[in-house]
Amino acid sequence: MFDAAVIRKDFPMLSRPADGKGLVYLDSTATSLKPAAVLQAMDEYYTTYGANVFRGIYSISERATAAYEGARGDVARFIHARDTREVVFTRNTDESISLIYYAWALPALGRGDGVVTTMLEHHANFVPWLELRRVKGIDLMFWEPDETGLLPIDALETLVSKKTKLVALTAASNVLGTLPPIGEIVKRVKRINPGCIVLVDAAQAAPHMPLDVSAWGADIVAFSAHKMLGPTGIGVLWGRHEFLEGLPPFTFGGDMIKEVHRDRAVYQDVPHRFEAGTPYIAGAIGLGAAVRYLEHLGMEDVRRHEMDITAYALKKLQAVDGVTVYGPRDPKDRGGVVAFRLEGIHPHDVAQVLDDDRICVRVGFHCAQPLHECLHIGPTVRASFYIYTTEADIDALIQGLLRVQETFR
Ligand code: ALA
Repeated sequence: MFDAAVIRKDFPMLSRPADGKGLVYLDSTATSLKPAAVLQAMDEYYTTYGANVFRGIYSISERATAAYEGARGDVARFIHARDTREVVFTRNTDESISLIYYAWALPALGRGDGVVTTMLEHHANFVPWLELRRVKGIDLMFWEPDETGLLPIDALETLVSKKTKLVALTAASNVLGTLPPIGEIVKRVKRINPGCIVLVDAAQAAPHMPLDVSAWGADIVAFSAHKMLGPTGIGVLWGRHEFLEGLPPFTFGGDMIKEVHRDRAVYQDVPHRFEAGTPYIAGAIGLGAAVRYLEHLGMEDVRRHEMDITAYALKKLQAVDGVTVYGPRDPKDRGGVVAFRLEGIHPHDVAQVLDDDRICVRVGFHCAQPLHECLHIGPTVRASFYIYTTEADIDALIQGLLRVQETFR
């Protein structure tokens, strides 16, 4: 039985401090809290077998290697990859996408080639394509959401053509929560142009719902550990094996190499070709523990809980005078994130007053400034939810907003 109140006990940051003011953490879209199981797995590595990987012919190094590669296997299973070689460890989603920019897009694309992205994107999946237009003169096209934040699927027929080499889009907006139907989008894109690469930013999808990269049919999927109960500083690039195998390295040095001579170097096979130097071993181990924790809960139940909490939050927020909520109206069409504005009060003031009650929300453009421009709105307040969010957290937010209104009346 999925029970957020029980789950909360696994999170040290949610244990009530002596002053009785518990944390109302509504910023999991920025980073999630970490359960004790993740912290313990990382601590165990550092305290009992903290050696380097792939280098030592001694047992603690072999154990570290097995744990590091075991985490890769955990991630592959979690996202339904066909092959563990398709999972590359990076620093975060931004670096995963930048890897594709440097290793593939920059050398391969140029004038006359088309790239399609959407106005829902986080800067991580927007800025690289602006830069590609600046330096290589590609033709960049923007898929715009309708007024509720949904992407009209028929627009693909005009946006994608035989010239389109890349469609780069999010699986879940970090502002509106919009969940584009990735499987259907990939099918449509490939029907128009089978050679077009589809890159999916799953930073806000992987933590919150069942993810099957093989069923999606995309070529690249990127996400970060720290939004899915894992540590900061480690992310994942999943790539179709045949696609990744054709790419050159992105960084150079140890571990990404098979042989080096005065006149040449032979690179490792994927995924190690992209993991130069000593990797974030404890981070991978923490991510593995996070994935196992989520699997134990069941991703279907995680999604169901977030839909329920989002429905509750939407209902409560919409009942507050002066609140405007953005994004799809139906909780089925959105992830556990709600962006809103409070009439006449700057979002930074809202956050500051909420913080007096230890209520954590994010305010600003949320690394998605083009989306705010597209919606013709200024910065927003964003409350976001996860497995440990309860209706009591939402009630505290609503009480907090009423206090904000009192303060600025
Ligand atoms: N990308 C993260 C967010 O949306 C940091 O808050």
